[in-house]
Amino acid sequence: MSNKPVICVAIDGPAASGKSTVARGAAKKLNFNYVDSGSFYRGLTWKCLRDGIEISNHEAVLALLATAQWDLSLCDGQVVYSIDGDQPGEQLKSKPVQERVSEIAAIPEVRAFIVEKLRETAMFGSLVMEGRDIGTVVFPDTPHKFYLDADPEERARRRFKELEKSGAYDDAQQVLTSLQKRDQKDSTRKTAPLQIALGAKVIDSTSMDAAAVIELVIKQVTSAQP
Ligand code: DC
Repeated sequence: MSNKPVICVAIDGPAASGKSTVARGAAKKLNFNYVDSGSFYRGLTWKCLRDGIEISNHEAVLALLATAQWDLSLCDGQVVYSIDGDQPGEQLKSKPVQERVSEIAAIPEVRAFIVEKLRETAMFGSLVMEGRDIGTVVFPDTPHKFYLDADPEERARRRFKELEKSGAYDDAQQVLTSLQKRDQKDSTRKTAPLQIALGAKVIDSTSMDAAAVIELVIKQVTSAQP
């Protein structure tokens, strides 16, 4: 490992605001690792569903969390994980996971556990991490904070395009309803609700393409470096 200081770039925002594309793109250009924090909450949701754990039974969820073995690794510049030796992969995007993940993410003990796992990812080096509470909770001291937003209709259109092939949703309207439900849960939960972090640069990407947003992020990060 080098002695260079680890830089953490936090990109928060509501569902389908373009965080993944921007975080991946910025990480690649900066030669940093990419971390999708939502995939950790999705992974636990997937594990509960697969093991037949009722998600509304928080004690059962926490019992699973206490015994599950998480292993972090680096794969093509992305920090990934396995739970008890399994990598959930594409299943993380399935409708059952999508519909229940906000519930899992609202459990305070789950959040405390996953926040620690997310901080551990910095052991691989500088990173760009996307999520909902990266600038507020996971890395509150980083000077590199961004909050990405876009109109709900535009976000639903983007997400539908992304999921069209999977057949999970019939049209963008259905996606919009699902996104709005999730945004509502994520913004109103008691622990670490989605908020604009203090000092975050807010970017409205409704009429911007991903390349322009990535450029903006890179410019900001590189100009802030000593
Ligand atoms: O970004 P995503 O759609 O993969 O996130 C899945 C869910 O996890 C979403 O409902 C919000 C939650 N989440 C969170 O609460 N905190 C994070 N840092 C990332 C995701």
